[in-house]
Amino acid sequence: METAKLESIARTLVNKGKGILAADESSGTIKKRFDSIKLESTEKNRLFYRHMLFTTEGIRNFISGVILFDETIHQTNQDGVPLHELLSRQGILPGIKVDKGAKEMPGFPGEKITEGLDGLHDRLVNYRDLGARFAKWRSVITIGQDIPTRQCIDANAHGLAIYAALCQEVGLVPIVEPEVLMDGAHDLELCEQVTADTLVSVFSELHHHRVHLEGILLKPNMVISGKTCAKQAQISEVAQATIRCFRRVVPSSVPGIVFLSGGQTPKQATENLNAINAIGTAPWQLSFSYGRALQETTLKTWGGKASNFSKAQEIFYHRSKCTAAARDASYQPVMEDQ
Ligand code: 13P
Repeated sequence: METAKLESIARTLVNKGKGILAADESSGTIKKRFDSIKLESTEKNRLFYRHMLFTTEGIRNFISGVILFDETIHQTNQDGVPLHELLSRQGILPGIKVDKGAKEMPGFPGEKITEGLDGLHDRLVNYRDLGARFAKWRSVITIGQDIPTRQCIDANAHGLAIYAALCQEVGLVPIVEPEVLMDGAHDLELCEQVTADTLVSVFSELHHHRVHLEGILLKPNMVISGKTCAKQAQISEVAQATIRCFRRVVPSSVPGIVFLSGGQTPKQATENLNAINAIGTAPWQLSFSYGRALQETTLKTWGGKASNFSKAQEIFYHRSKCTAAARDASYQPVMEDQ
């Protein structure tokens, strides 16, 4: 294992003032996103949209890496240049989603287990040879009546650890994503408890699978109230609970924590990240790996119309700039109007 190379890639991804764009929506998820703007999810439309994001002038100042989906890493622009190369030419590292999705966990109603370990080694080698520098695997933990179960937490943690070990063996930095979903009426305290339980299991498995922690990034949820909880925690409570939770269970050898947005609005995800960084005492870099929070307003502005191309790029640039500012605790709400 080339540990120095892994560490260097991981550190580059969480460089000051920058974070990750998650543009790795699976075919099903991108269809849902395009449905919201009444656009058919064709290969051509997906290429147009992602090409628009990746060629936005100046995003290299805010975006260190982009997570791609399998289809995207094989696509080229009109001149035959691969999309991943358009990124690397700007100094943005290409990454790749390698899990095969979270599926119903047999015997555990309401819970999911992530698939994709079969043949993973060879797929990773192919992606690395294409130019990927890091990978992502997402597992999902749901809070509800009598769930999550220990079995679900541990089975997902085990999958994440095997994936992470395979990635490091071939020189890819694994982004380890155990997402405790925001869906539900649970309060902040329960989210904190489940997030801690999940991370304890994940780091135990990573340790037992001899994963080099200095060469991974953790991609977790923030500690936040469930979407339908009557009492929504304030920004400062979210920030404090998030840092408290991670301090208790995430080793300081991990170079960076890159949060997912998980259904927060773009502004909420920006304000919370800013407040988390403003606490200022964490041993890890605290950055972002947002999908929806970076793309939602861009997608709406674009609306599937070529005539909105420039305006959509402007919006994407603006959202990236605000989010990158939050990553350094220098976001001001007034930036939203600039
Ligand atoms: P969201 O920021 O939309 O949650 O997406 C991040 C991601 O990559 C989920 O796997």
